[in-house]
Parts: sequence; C-alpha cells; structure tokens
Amino acid sequence: MSPLNIVILAAGKGTRMYSDKPKVLHALAGRALVQHVLDCAVSLQPQQVCVVYGHGGEAVPQAMNAYDAQFVIQEPQLGTGHAVQQAMPHLKDDSRTLVLYGDVPLIQHNTLHQMQQAGDGLVLLTVNLDNPTGYGRIVRNAEGDVQSIVEQKDATAEQLQIGEVNTGIMLAPTRELRAWLGKLGNNNAQGEYYLTDIVAMAVQQGVAVRTAQPAQRWEVEGINNKMQLAALERVWQQTQANKLMAQGVTLADPARIDIRGELTCGRDVEIDIGCVFEGQVTLADRVRVGAYSVIRDAVIGQGTQIAPYSHIDSSEAGANCHIGPYARLRPGSKLHDDAHVGNFVEIKNSEIGKGSKANHLSYIGDSTVGTRVNIGAGTITCNYDGANKFRTVIEDDAFIGSDTQLVAPVTVGKGATIGAGSTITKDTPAGELTLSRSKQMTIAGWQRPVKGKK
Ligand code: UD1
Ligand code: MG
Repeated sequence: MSPLNIVILAAGKGTRMYSDKPKVLHALAGRALVQHVLDCAVSLQPQQVCVVYGHGGEAVPQAMNAYDAQFVIQEPQLGTGHAVQQAMPHLKDDSRTLVLYGDVPLIQHNTLHQMQQAGDGLVLLTVNLDNPTGYGRIVRNAEGDVQSIVEQKDATAEQLQIGEVNTGIMLAPTRELRAWLGKLGNNNAQGEYYLTDIVAMAVQQGVAVRTAQPAQRWEVEGINNKMQLAALERVWQQTQANKLMAQGVTLADPARIDIRGELTCGRDVEIDIGCVFEGQVTLADRVRVGAYSVIRDAVIGQGTQIAPYSHIDSSEAGANCHIGPYARLRPGSKLHDDAHVGNFVEIKNSEIGKGSKANHLSYIGDSTVGTRVNIGAGTITCNYDGANKFRTVIEDDAFIGSDTQLVAPVTVGKGATIGAGSTITKDTPAGELTLSRSKQMTIAGWQRPVKGKK
C-alpha cells in the first residue's frame, strides 16, 4: 500500500459554540476534539499528519504540540478546498491523502482502514440520512456511479431529495489531488473553494470514485454547538459502558458513569453510580467502587473496596484495602495490601504498609508508614515548614494516639506508642510510650470571667 498522509481540517471558528476557545479544543471524554482525531490518525501509521488551523491563533498547535504533526495556518478561511491546499506543500506525491475533520471526533480506525481497502482512486465516506438537510449530496448516474457532490446551497430541488450525503472524510491520490485543488474555483453560492468539487474533476478524468460507509453512524457526527457536544459525549460514554458490561463489569447504571481515558477491569468488578475515571485506571478482580468516586491514573488491587465519595489521583492500592468513604489519595500514594484509609483522611506522596490503618480525619504527607501501624483519629504529619518538605517515618507496629502532630523530619520507632494529643518533634524510641502533652490538672475554685456592666 502507498504511504498515507493525513490532513485534519481544524481552522473553523465554531461560532455556535459561543466560546473564546477554538471549537476543536473543546473536550469530549476529557480530550480535545482534535486530539481524538489525531489519536485515530496516528493509529493508521501515516507518513505525515498535517493539521490546518486558523481561528484562535496559536492555541491549537500549542495544545497539540506533543504530537508529531505539521501545523499549517489557513488565514483567511476560504473553504475546505482552500484548507487542504495549505497542507499540500508538506505532502509527497507518491502517497494517498486522507482528509479528516477536527470537529468530527469519534471517527474510528476500522472505518478509515475500510476506506483504505476500498480500492484506488478517490474514496468518499458517505452515509444515508433521513434528513440530509445541510449536507453535500452524493450525485450518482443511472448506473449508480458517483458523478459529483453538490452542496445544499447549490443543489436543485431534485438533488435535495438525495439521502446519501458527504461526511467530508475522503481519501485521494496525492498527485491528482494537488492538480485538482489547483483548478478549484469559488463560483458557487457561498463563494468558497469547495473540496467537494474535486469529485466531478476525478470523474471527468476517468479516475475511479468509490464510496465507503462508517461502521457506526456516530463516527461521522460533527460538533457545531454545546448540545451536539453533550449528545456525542453521552453516545461515547454509553459505548464505553457497553464495552465494560460485555466484559462482565457490573455497572449500577450505564448512563451514570464517565470514562475520560481508559478503564481496564478484572472479573466481578462493581461500579456504583456517578463515578468518574480519568487517564489510565486499572481495577483488579472483585474491586468495588462506591458512588460518586473520582479516580484518575490509578491501579487498584484485587478485592479492594472503595466506599462512596472517594478521590484517588496518581496512586496505587494493593489487594483487599478499604478506602473511604470520603478518602483522598493524592499523587504518589501507595497502599500495601489490607491497608485501611477511612473518612476524611488525606494521603499524599506516602506509603502505607500492609495492614496499617488510618481510619479517621488525618493528613499523612511525605511519609513512610510500616506494617500493622495504627494511626489514631486526627493525626497530622507536619511535613512543611513554609519552604521545605520533610519526611515522616513510622515504623512497623507503631501506635499513634489520636490528635498527634508529627513534626517532620521525625521517626517513630518500631512498636512505639505515642500518647494522644502529643506534638512530636524528636525521634521516638522503639517499643516505648512517648507523649508530650502537659499533665492534666484542676485549679480549685477557678471562675470563668464575666462581662462587666456598662
Ligand atoms: C462540508 C462539505 C459537505 C459535507 C459537510 C459534512 C464542503 C464544501 N462541504 O460542508 O459536503 O456534507 O462538510 O459536515 O467541503 N474548514 C477549514 N477551513 C475552511 C473551511 C472549513 O478548516 O476554510 C473546516 C471546518 O473547521 C470544519 C470542516 O472544515 O471542520 C468542514 O467545514 P464546514 O464549514 O463545516 O463545511 P460544511 O459547509 O458543513
Ligand atoms: Mg459543517
């Protein structure tokens, strides 16, 4: 197969989004529309990817600079044919050029692969619509061969009856495409250089024009406003949910889950309503995720229970842990097997050893906690002096009494006990009870102050 070039048209303003942000940078499933298209493009292993941008200044190339793509400005925007023309200097003749739209985000690899397999010549991706209003119509002759594409505004009453429409996505031999684009005029209802006019040129030149159809209708759905964006988001989420359920995942309600990235699940995973998964999340066998939890870039070990309203970010949990309700694991947290992190406990950049527990109202930051440690309610690691961060080490089998402050850097020795309400500023010896609070006393006859009369 000849090498593939891909041109992504992304110069449009998106007037109906009523936003300062270029349309193609609005997000679907947590990623910019054009990012979905770029990811799909890259999956075809093209020789070259060109993104034609315009509105929004450098915002598009800046946001997409991680991609190995050529960004070409189109200024002013004189139509889809003019847009593709801007990319041509970057494309080699002995190749095929695939045109994609930056605002048609859910086009899938398989459909584009299907187009590549359809044969040589010009390949158009078309669909049949009950209501084709607004789209370019595919005009065929009596033999059923494609003759041209006619835009809505240029169509005759008879042509407007045609239900087969142009999705805009097409594949063309690059050398011919270059020649056709050079011959485009703008003598039409919109005064634009229409990419679609190359179809009639191909027919005239005897180049085969073929058509292919997307595997699913939503793949070619374009975004012009926030209603369409929200509707396509739901379509995508439902598709993701169906895929998970087909693999055996139990979803309390497939309409109430949001996956903004990739969620990988083992067997007998259960996910309650309202959960959001971002980035790369892996849930091992028998993990249960409680309602309204938000989990990003995490690996959760088998049998671990996440109670409702928990928030996990860039962290890892072993097997059979208990997390939440209302727990927060911030980046760099690692829970070993059987650890418990309970309500209103915040863990950051810390390791919690096997079987250790921090069940209530704590902040554990920049800490290394050993195995079988019990961290009492309200314990705070004071890891920050306003300028520097320091580590707290709590060794195996330690017991930290409630409402303790551990002022880092500090180490609590193996099996040590800290009395409740202590402020610990120096290392505490293994196996001993250390406490820092003053002795309780009662002052006989003490009276509360009373307000003086004015
Ligand atoms: C285009 C097609 C029409 C098809 C429809 C599918 C043409 C002439 N018409 O019409 O046959 O049915 O899409 O949605 O091609 N763009 C640029 N620069 C420009 C103009 C457009 O980058 O100068 C980009 C837009 O951002 C958009 C895409 O090209 O992503 C399509 O442009 P749009 O104006 O929506 O074309 P339509 O009139 O809808
Ligand atoms: Mg359009």
